[in-house]
Amino acid sequence: MMLLPQLLLSLATGAETPAVDFQKEVLPILKGRCIECHQDPATNSGKRPKGGLRLDGKHWIMEGTRSGPVIVPGDPNLSTLYELISLDKDDPDLMPPNSDGLTKSEVETIRTWIAEGADFGGWVGAPAPGETSPDTPKLTPKPSGKLPRIVQLYMELGEGLSPHSAEQLKLAAGERGKLQPVFPGSPLLSVSFPSNQGRTGTADVQKLLGCAENVASLNLGRTRITDEALAVITNMPRLVKLDLRQTNITDAGLAHLASLEHLRSLNLFSTKITDASALKIAGLKKLETVYLWQTQLTTAGVERLRGLRPDLRVVHQPDLPAPERGGPDEEGAGRRRR
Ligand code: HEC
Repeated sequence: MMLLPQLLLSLATGAETPAVDFQKEVLPILKGRCIECHQDPATNSGKRPKGGLRLDGKHWIMEGTRSGPVIVPGDPNLSTLYELISLDKDDPDLMPPNSDGLTKSEVETIRTWIAEGADFGGWVGAPAPGETSPDTPKLTPKPSGKLPRIVQLYMELGEGLSPHSAEQLKLAAGERGKLQPVFPGSPLLSVSFPSNQGRTGTADVQKLLGCAENVASLNLGRTRITDEALAVITNMPRLVKLDLRQTNITDAGLAHLASLEHLRSLNLFSTKITDASALKIAGLKKLETVYLWQTQLTTAGVERLRGLRPDLRVVHQPDLPAPERGGPDEEGAGRRRR
């Protein structure tokens, strides 16, 4: 694990003069928009926190959920908490749910706060278990075995790979692409076309071929790519996350993905995928989450997929809104399996 010291180092640095003050800027957002659903049952008439996540104290925020941390200090892109507040308005996983989401500037405040190392200043909030006073912060460091699963996976997949030179990256990015390491120091790349989706096409995906071995996350949402681009993607053996939402891809294109043996997350929101793809999706052995809202899959097709792959988290419209049941914790465990 050559990368570990580098990763920890990069997590520890850069917090000298944080631009974002947690108590002044982040806490008011959490209090106003999140804590009503993510707090101590004792302060919420016995109701358990949604998704098994409490955001009412430093200990709880860093603890995350049963499936792991929701914040990776220094890296917003690996932090579930940031991911879920920066989704599109129509994404069923957006936090707060069934809302227009946070404002752009609120999202940016939280992004910056995480990027700067998620420093809480002197704030403790609701005490950790066994602590009585919020004034006595817990000093035990987090066990290092608790890196988020995705980081562990990226570390494994990146082992032995060398990072690309700035020159190679520039070439692969072309005019529109944005390529960045999946976490600081990793040779693996996260690729997106943030401000040029409408003009991005298959040719832009072809430019990535020079770096194909290293691409672990590829966001082609809302671009003009066609099935042809998916044939190019077969050259990216380490792909873990693929976002194809709102593109013109079809069932025929989806067949190309069969060779991506590390694929964990596939977003097909608002594409022309039909029931014919259920079997292909089920065949993606490592896949953990697939987004099928507003595709042409029928309820029967979705049920068929669920039958074939009970372990897969299938996000489809009829799942929403999340029903208010007795054990809200269970919703989280069921829908966000990782
Ligand atoms: C109206 C209630 C409600 C509000 C308000 C709310 N959430 Fe949630 N949150 C939920 C539910 C329900 C889940 C579980 C969803 C699931 O598992 O699919 C959840 C899950 C989460 C998770 C994922 C936990 C995991 O499984 O990894 C995070 C992170 C999260 N919320 C953050 C936030 C943040 C940040 C805010 C405020 C900006 C917020 N939530 C506001 C209801 C809410």
